[in-house]
Amino acid sequence: MRTFQQILPLRTYLRGVREEGKTVGFVPTMGALHEGHLALFRRARTECDVVVVSIFVNPTQFGPGEDFHTYPRDLNRDLQLASNEEVDALFHPSVEEMYPAGFQTWVEVPELAATLEGSLRPGHFRGVATVVTKLLNIVQPDVAFFGQKDYQQFLVIDRMVRDLNLTCRIAVVPTVREADGLAMSSRNVYLSPEERRAATVLFRALRRAEELVQSGVARADEVARQLEALIDAEPLATREYVALVHPETLQPVHSLATGVTLVALAVRIGRTRLIDNAFIAPPGATA
Ligand code: PAJ
Repeated sequence: MRTFQQILPLRTYLRGVREEGKTVGFVPTMGALHEGHLALFRRARTECDVVVVSIFVNPTQFGPGEDFHTYPRDLNRDLQLASNEEVDALFHPSVEEMYPAGFQTWVEVPELAATLEGSLRPGHFRGVATVVTKLLNIVQPDVAFFGQKDYQQFLVIDRMVRDLNLTCRIAVVPTVREADGLAMSSRNVYLSPEERRAATVLFRALRRAEELVQSGVARADEVARQLEALIDAEPLATREYVALVHPETLQPVHSLATGVTLVALAVRIGRTRLIDNAFIAPPGATA
């Protein structure tokens, strides 16, 4: 595996790759790699000749008081994991390399970023859209891979790529879960053993939503009420939102009978903020 901290040598390497006629798959990450990230690497491996991964804890997508400084970082472990997955090139730039003095250009996707995560984390998607634009310009992949775990992020980036006529295709990979359903996340390491048990409340709520819609409950507010009660019954959990929204616009839906709905959750377990989501569909339709 080749590793790069600077943009220029990475570009030179990638020029060579393209001259050989090879396709490039790209997976941007913030490191602290887990099975969810590895699933993206494996998917990229099956679709592209060369797999490029970035590890960059992007300061501009963290708000004041968020966990930028304490975000888990273990580059040596990550390098080992990526190399075991046969990643071809790993880019881990410094903050100065990505945001040199004088940096002042931003990418915004205001409507899709206004709801859910964006409404609670102002500026978050501006930071994400900006860094992903930069990374896509640096790597110029044929396909870039994102996880369904951060579904709103995928939608924001997919919109941005189309709006800005970027040439890469965006692929979305299903959420990888622990045996008890907890979605893999770099932030799961913050959980104490007791909190780790409580954290299954997100998956339990998503399963309940699926059961309710399959049993014929068609009112979104009725499902939301039941999920809220389920989450509130977990003493270590503090609910931030339970949203039933259209999977393309992220606007609230009222009836679940008409098609596929996205259930999106944000819950604090102790001090750790977790998100998860699932598609649900009425009997006879498939999510
Ligand atoms: P990070 O949280 O490291 O996630 C990198 C990619 O892994 C994202 O596309 C995310 O959706 C995906 N991912 C995380 N957990 C997953 C899981 N359990 N199953 C499947 N995929 C999972 O998301 C970011 O970094 C950053 O915002 C980034 C896009 C790199 C921009 O800074």
